[in-house]
Amino acid sequence: MDRLKITGGKPLSGTIPISGAKNSALKLMAAALLTPEPVTFTNMPRLADTRFLSQLLQTLGVEVYWPKGDSECRLNAAELTSTIAPYEQVRKMRASFNVLGPLLARYGHATVSLPGGCAIGARPVDLHLKAFEAMGADLVVEEGYVKAAAIRGLKGAQINFPFVSVGATEHAMLAAVLAEGETVLENAAREPEIADLADCLNAMGAKVSGGGTATVTIQGVETLHGTTHPVMPDRIEAGTYAMAVAAAGGDVTLTNAPVAALSALTGALRDAGVTVETDKAAGTIRIARNGRRLQAVSVDTAPHPGFPTDLQAQFMALMTLAEGTSVIRENIFENRFMHAPELSRLGANIAVRGHEAIVKGVETLKGAPVMATDLRASVSLVIAGLAAQGETEVNRIYHLDRGFEKLEEKLSGVGADIRRVGGEEE
Ligand code: UD1
Repeated sequence: MDRLKITGGKPLSGTIPISGAKNSALKLMAAALLTPEPVTFTNMPRLADTRFLSQLLQTLGVEVYWPKGDSECRLNAAELTSTIAPYEQVRKMRASFNVLGPLLARYGHATVSLPGGCAIGARPVDLHLKAFEAMGADLVVEEGYVKAAAIRGLKGAQINFPFVSVGATEHAMLAAVLAEGETVLENAAREPEIADLADCLNAMGAKVSGGGTATVTIQGVETLHGTTHPVMPDRIEAGTYAMAVAAAGGDVTLTNAPVAALSALTGALRDAGVTVETDKAAGTIRIARNGRRLQAVSVDTAPHPGFPTDLQAQFMALMTLAEGTSVIRENIFENRFMHAPELSRLGANIAVRGHEAIVKGVETLKGAPVMATDLRASVSLVIAGLAAQGETEVNRIYHLDRGFEKLEEKLSGVGADIRRVGGEEE
């Protein structure tokens, strides 16, 4: 099993290019199922998760043209050979569940494995299923599979989500674009990836308005066509590197960065005393911290435009070194503090009480072996390792490979001492 060895305490300087957004890419790839014409994505991140999904799409009969090393990927769902997404594939990555909506909308039936829980919580899909039922689908859950049918096609519906869900909003959009009539999604999630999906669907001939706002209106169309769509830049990757620089010190410019999408984080970083200069038009964010100690800042995670849950672990890593006490509240997932005990192994002072973590800043962290438990938690350990004195070894880094493209390359490019080593866990 591969591990990362990091020798911390080196300030970072230079430029880090930001890749395409994983969370956007996964929904965009599912959208390619909606049309018999090829859809090409540029700025497609090469990650374990996008690879898993392309393998599932191939199982369904989609032709995938994605040469090794290339960030352009073409998906052609001209003739599908199956509408069944098996457990072995959906289990590997939750977002695979998103093929259900497009298959149901285009073919009138689909059988997709339930994704199950994951390390950060139960993560049910009840809102997704209720949305399809509202659109007239018959659903049966049997032996861990959702069997869905809409023999006469899906019908537009008024859907009021009882709480905000990114996945359910996107999934409902992926089905409603080919439903008959109008669908209105109320209390929709407002994440920028949803606006990206709406843009791509509209470029395919769909009629979606309000994507990225709390009310999304979709006029169903009969067919969709191919297009070329650039995947938006990854705000979580950009935010993660911003915090790596804030933690380790130095001066780094992030390029191809989604500036507007990161305002909750850039505000918190400024409050912590980090220099943050953004240029929306150029898509750059300069992050600098030279010498001055960080100040403690408290954050509460919330749906966009609030502080993203996917940056909570990284922010906690940063706050372990701040002057003062920071309270970090996790409001989206019930079990998302697994990084806290690992950060404590490096000398952090964190007390977890329910959905609150109280972080008392320490002056220094010291390297130690630690274990990655999920995607964002594992990168928080990398951030702490970059700031810690001595060597940190991060085990189980397959989590990192799910969501961070060329992580070691990007960090060593700005002067970090980080390398991947193979072999068994010690
Ligand atoms: C997406 C992101 C994930 C991010 C999360 C919140 C992808 C691939 N993943 O996940 O990185 O952390 O948004 O920003 O885009 N819920 C239900 N029933 C449902 C759906 C959700 O109870 O049918 C709950 C979830 O368990 C969670 C909350 O709603 O507690 C929000 O989840 P949701 O916004 O749906 O997250 P995901 O789309 O799974």
